[in-house]
Amino acid sequence: MKMYRQWPLLLFTLLPACWAYDIVQDYSGSSFFDKWDFYGNWDNLTLGDVWWLGRQDAFAQGLVYVNNAGNAILKVDDVSNVALNQKRNTVRITSQAAYNVGSLWIADIVHLPFGCSVWPAFWTKGTLLWPDGGEIDIIEGINLVSQNQMALHTLPGCYHNTTPPNQMGISDPTKVDCSQPSGCVVSESAPNSFGQGFANAGGGVFGVQFDVAGVFIWFWSRPSIPASIANANATSSINVSDWGAPSASYPASEPCNITQFFTPQNLVIDITLCGIWAGLPAQYLPQCSGAGPTGICYNDNVVGPGGRYSNAYFEIKYVRAYTTGGIAPTPTAAAHALLSQAVTSTIKTTSPAGTVLVPSPLFFPGNTARRGFEVQGWRLTLVGIIVVMTTYLVW
Ligand SMILES: *[C@@H]1O[C@H](CO)[C@@H](O)[C@H](O)[C@H]1NC(C)=O
Ligand SMILES: *[C@@H]1O[C@H](CO)[C@@H](O)[C@H](O)[C@H]1NC(C)=O
Ligand SMILES: *[C@@H]1O[C@H](CO)[C@@H](O)[C@H](O)[C@H]1NC(C)=O
Ligand SMILES: *[C@@H]1O[C@H](CO)[C@@H](O)[C@H](O)[C@H]1NC(C)=O
Repeated sequence: MKMYRQWPLLLFTLLPACWAYDIVQDYSGSSFFDKWDFYGNWDNLTLGDVWWLGRQDAFAQGLVYVNNAGNAILKVDDVSNVALNQKRNTVRITSQAAYNVGSLWIADIVHLPFGCSVWPAFWTKGTLLWPDGGEIDIIEGINLVSQNQMALHTLPGCYHNTTPPNQMGISDPTKVDCSQPSGCVVSESAPNSFGQGFANAGGGVFGVQFDVAGVFIWFWSRPSIPASIANANATSSINVSDWGAPSASYPASEPCNITQFFTPQNLVIDITLCGIWAGLPAQYLPQCSGAGPTGICYNDNVVGPGGRYSNAYFEIKYVRAYTTGGIAPTPTAAAHALLSQAVTSTIKTTSPAGTVLVPSPLFFPGNTARRGFEVQGWRLTLVGIIVVMTTYLVW
């Protein structure tokens, strides 16, 4: 009987699934922090001089809250006087849901943390031990840089060998192997993607398409946000056809077999201080040698009063997760198990249906995608009909 009632839902969701991404999670407003885990340990990953507080402490110390504008704030402690050999408090949160290939994420952000020693990131990580499940760095920057940097991190075998013709950002020709420590790096070329410039422009929006065809990352400064995003709300689907060329384009053909190197991904937002990137003298000194008397990231910034961290905060309007259909958030499953799982999950889930691990018809960009659009539409509908019929027969 239960299945019976879900048929109309299945049929309803199959058709729009080939046109747009359906929303599966909106993180915003007073419930922004509900579905994230707080790290609750010192930064034992990037060796920053911070404690990433647990949920209760983070709220109690005012390092996370929702401001009067309804935006989520995540910040570094900018009031405490930190003694030598102690760490400063900040936060790192990880989404409880892991999103599979076939997902799209959009983050509307008003302010990103910046300043000497400050190292924020908005990124995703696989559900296996790092880096086996892959990592996508969507926003990352250190100290006083003015440009965002994007990257993938994987096991050996995933590359970003060329600068794809429709990529707006700048590939680093020395960082094409996504398994090297820096990952395969692309720098943003559009202005105001980080730091004071980002804040002065009122922030902007970042979008990521995590697809079997590749990983594609967009950035729009606030005045350039496309209508599809500006007009979307917390429940509407999103039509990506007006997104234009991405800032970073990592096509699977580089080669990087997405389902091989990426499991479902958790979203992560964190701020650390100094550590193994921002704090390295080669990175730190060119920008911040004047920040204090010792020229040492920790001594001149983390120690002492916190006033210098007044800009070390995220202000986030929302983070939204979407799916092309078949592959709903999967907290546990490994990617290669999904093809067989997907058919049953279309019957069980209330998320939009659709099953096949073929390139999303919406993947950027261009004519082949558009042609694929029609094919994919039929294929999805066909699979849907088969699923419905099978359900009927089994019933
Ligand atoms: C998506 O946008 C394009 C271009 O604006 C339009 O042609 C198409 O019909 C839209 N699709 C849907 C489902 O709204
Ligand atoms: C970091 O700390 C967490 C929490 O205590 C622990 O689970 C994890 O294994 C540690 N990681 C490393 C690399 O030490
Ligand atoms: C969100 O947008 C959809 C159209 O995409 C509309 O039907 C719905 O009423 C909107 N919801 C709110 C709360 O504005
Ligand atoms: C990509 O990896 C998946 C999972 O490991 C595998 O099934 C598939 O055959 C691979 N595709 C190519 C083109 O190598």
